[in-house]
Amino acid sequence: MIQRALINCTYQHTPIPSLRNMRFLVIGGSGRTGKLVIDNILKRGHQVTALVRNPKSLGEELGLDIVKGTPLNAFDIRNAFSLAVPDVVIVTLSALRATDSPFAAPISPPRMMADSNANVAHIMKEFGVGKIVVLQAYGAGASWENMPCAMRLLMSKSNMTFSYEDHNLAEKEIRDSGLTFVLVRPSRLVETDVIEVREWPKDGKGVGLMGCASRISVANFLVTAALETKWDGTAPVITN
Ligand SMILES: NC(=O)c1ccc[n+]([C@@H]2O[C@H](COP(=O)([O-])OP(=O)(O)OC[C@H]3O[C@@H](n4cnc5c(N)ncnc54)[C@H](OP(=O)(O)O)[C@@H]3O)[C@@H](O)[C@H]2O)c1
Repeated sequence: MIQRALINCTYQHTPIPSLRNMRFLVIGGSGRTGKLVIDNILKRGHQVTALVRNPKSLGEELGLDIVKGTPLNAFDIRNAFSLAVPDVVIVTLSALRATDSPFAAPISPPRMMADSNANVAHIMKEFGVGKIVVLQAYGAGASWENMPCAMRLLMSKSNMTFSYEDHNLAEKEIRDSGLTFVLVRPSRLVETDVIEVREWPKDGKGVGLMGCASRISVANFLVTAALETKWDGTAPVITN
């Protein structure tokens, strides 16, 4: 089913590769951060395809094409690419638990993000699309060692560990794909309207227990990282 329907960043901007109208594919666009990513892209005057399980989760908007499907199915991803080949892909999937409690039971398949990213990377190569930006979390990959002890204890002893395992497997899929990537790792997501972000060098060394990032600033960062080359091949840890 297909429906038709500037940004305040504190970084020094590296040149935008192209000023023309670009096409983004968003995977996970029905989620809380994914919806903000779609808004951000449209506000910048670009076009978006969103591959979502439930098209009703997104409203009709000019510049937004909604394709029904799941990134766990390569056929569905291919449908989204066939509608319009994107210039860049942004992934904002989350391994779901029954509630937001860290101890709630996981309800997504164990490799949901890893397999989705692997499928997307495969179809990107098929269509000659070169760049993917993936929303991960502070604590994924090399940033784990830099998390405060209390946070590591919570993440490893609660059901959040499943999400971290999946993020780590997804990182391997993305790095092995040979695509140009940015793995964005914010600390705790909050619903404030702060847009300014701070990037932490050395995989987040020094981020404190209270470090947080507004979803809107993370969405803005993801889109900026997709448009610019500054963060290519890196895994920036960000907070507000
Ligand atoms: N919460 C935090 O404090 C925090 C901190 C740092 C980083 N993060 C990371 O931020 C990311 C996004 O989080 P969020 O809160 O914006 O996510 P969210 O609102 O929970 O949205 C999750 C998205 O993933 C999709 N999804 C989940 N399971 C799926 C499946 N089996 N098949 C297809 N799609 C599936 C959902 O689709 P449906 O709408 O169809 O379910 C939805 O689009 C996560 O990777 C998380 O680890 C979170």
